[in-house]
Amino acid sequence: MGRKCYISPDDKNLCVKISTPRGQRSSQREISYLNRLHARDKSFDMIADFKGEVETNFGKGNLYELVRDYDGSISKNLEYYLSLNDKNITSKMVVLIENLRVYLKKEYILFSDLDMDNILVKKANESDYKLIIIDGIGDNNQIPLLEYIKPLGLKRCYKKWDVFKARIGKKFPDIVKSIKKFNDDV
Ligand SMILES: Nc1ncnc2c1ncn2[C@@H]1O[C@H](COP(=O)(O)OP(=O)(O)OP(=O)(O)O)[C@@H](O)[C@H]1O
Ligand SMILES: [Mg+2]
Repeated sequence: MGRKCYISPDDKNLCVKISTPRGQRSSQREISYLNRLHARDKSFDMIADFKGEVETNFGKGNLYELVRDYDGSISKNLEYYLSLNDKNITSKMVVLIENLRVYLKKEYILFSDLDMDNILVKKANESDYKLIIIDGIGDNNQIPLLEYIKPLGLKRCYKKWDVFKARIGKKFPDIVKSIKKFNDDV
């Protein structure tokens, strides 16, 4: 979508996202979906939450939680960690991906565009990591039909998870066999 993302000048733990004119509608759709997740009392444990709007000199901006590690640095994405080609780190990432799958399934959270650069690896301390989705949550349909017809929504999740796996497999063919399918048991 080509959104620009800035550290908020008012709060170092928030970022301001500015959409391109073309991306406005999908950003708005994502925000409406996040608001509905709140209304349904879903867990935001692995999603960077929306925190409201701000006026900026570039026009309207949307505030989101800025994902940072325990040392204050901005968390790096999943692709960065997989690219290190470190056996230990990779097997840690595979566990985190499984935790993410279980979370999305348990909370029944729809996603449309999971990719390795839309997922950050937040280090809570030197050994505790978790994944945080920063983009690609919700369904890219106009009508929120899948939210209300769960069997259809789950079917969509299976498909989208396969797309995510295929994206990983394209760059990291060795690890994709260690990632379960969305409909596998938890
Ligand atoms: N919550 C966040 N915490 C830290 N960094 C973030 C956060 N959200 C976005 N970013 C950074 O800003 C970039 C762009 O944000 P985002 O992915 O939301 O926009 P986008 O329009 O989908 O861009 P792209 O098409 O590049 O994915 C991200 O790839 C990431 O580097
Ligand atoms: Mg993105």
